[in-house]
Amino acid sequence: MKRQRLAIIGLGKVGLACSKAIAASEDLAVAGVVRRPASLGQPMPPPLQVAPARMDASEIDGIDAALICLPPALVRDTATDLLQHRVPIVEAAILPPPDRAAYREALDRVALRHRIAAVTGAGWNPGMLSIFRGLFAVMSPKGHTETRDRPGVSLHHTLAARALPGIKDALCTELRAEGARMQRYVYVELDAGADIEAATQAVRSDPLFFGEETLVIPVGSLKELEHEGHGIVLERLGLAAGDAHQRFLLEGRFDLFAVTAQIMVAAARALPLLGPGVHRLGDIPPCLLCQDIPDDHEA
Ligand SMILES: NC(=O)c1ccc[n+]([C@@H]2O[C@H](COP(=O)([O-])OP(=O)(O)OC[C@H]3O[C@@H](n4cnc5c(N)ncnc54)[C@H](OP(=O)(O)O)[C@@H]3O)[C@@H](O)[C@H]2O)c1
Repeated sequence: MKRQRLAIIGLGKVGLACSKAIAASEDLAVAGVVRRPASLGQPMPPPLQVAPARMDASEIDGIDAALICLPPALVRDTATDLLQHRVPIVEAAILPPPDRAAYREALDRVALRHRIAAVTGAGWNPGMLSIFRGLFAVMSPKGHTETRDRPGVSLHHTLAARALPGIKDALCTELRAEGARMQRYVYVELDAGADIEAATQAVRSDPLFFGEETLVIPVGSLKELEHEGHGIVLERLGLAAGDAHQRFLLEGRFDLFAVTAQIMVAAARALPLLGPGVHRLGDIPPCLLCQDIPDDHEA
């Protein structure tokens, strides 16, 4: 299989994460990296030791597409230049909302004129977060969605939960949900062979948590959880076919840069199958974003 050759433009947090996502794939390769002159003298970090680093994408051979990982203020000019040179692009820039529509329209004109595809906003936010929000709203069109950051720093150990059967250790935090009510999140590391249902019941029946809305979430390692900075809780409450009390919850803890890179790489895979013009992440059929994922990914 011929690997799709991707150029990485800017080797910061997202750029480096893109290189790792590409290295972990079987169908992609790094064609080269475009860096500032000041960075060109620095040794390339793994896994990019043998990748060519250049000042301009035109100096890199055989680019199928470019992942633009530059500061947001530089993305528009760079994307325009690459499209004018008929290089398809993916970017994930966090732009101020008032600038986004005008930027996309301008880029769309360039992409259409040169008959090239571009994917914009292909990260977590902008990107995947609004897709999740949209899917929740499809299932419960009349309702209310709330997005809350899950601050890792506010987690504290709870001796009460740790003393319960099946629970090796536990961390607890409180978050304000819709209507100003408080919800408790108890992250539990279970003893080997322990059952999460039984542990959940034990936590909810404990006097410390009884009568409070308490979500019990199993994790592999509490140590790792404590070190993670980024997290999100997305909750939708509403009606489905007229029935009230439908509730959807997404709880995520992840490395923002790694996840953004993974999404950019997935969007790059879709590029050859997209028509000319600008596409937002949500415009791309999910099957085109899942091309490298085995069919049993639902398991
Ligand atoms: N959608 C999302 O959820 C999401 C999440 C995170 C980030 N992002 C976006 O991803 C892009 C990259 O973010 P990042 O966190 O990786 O940024 P970063 O760590 O600051 O890296 C940006 C890189 O761009 C290059 N660069 C070129 N000209 C530069 C200049 N004048 N000043 C500073 N850097 C310059 C540098 O690489 P060299 O040293 O190799 O030249 C730098 O390391 C941004 O547009 C950001 O908004 C999106």
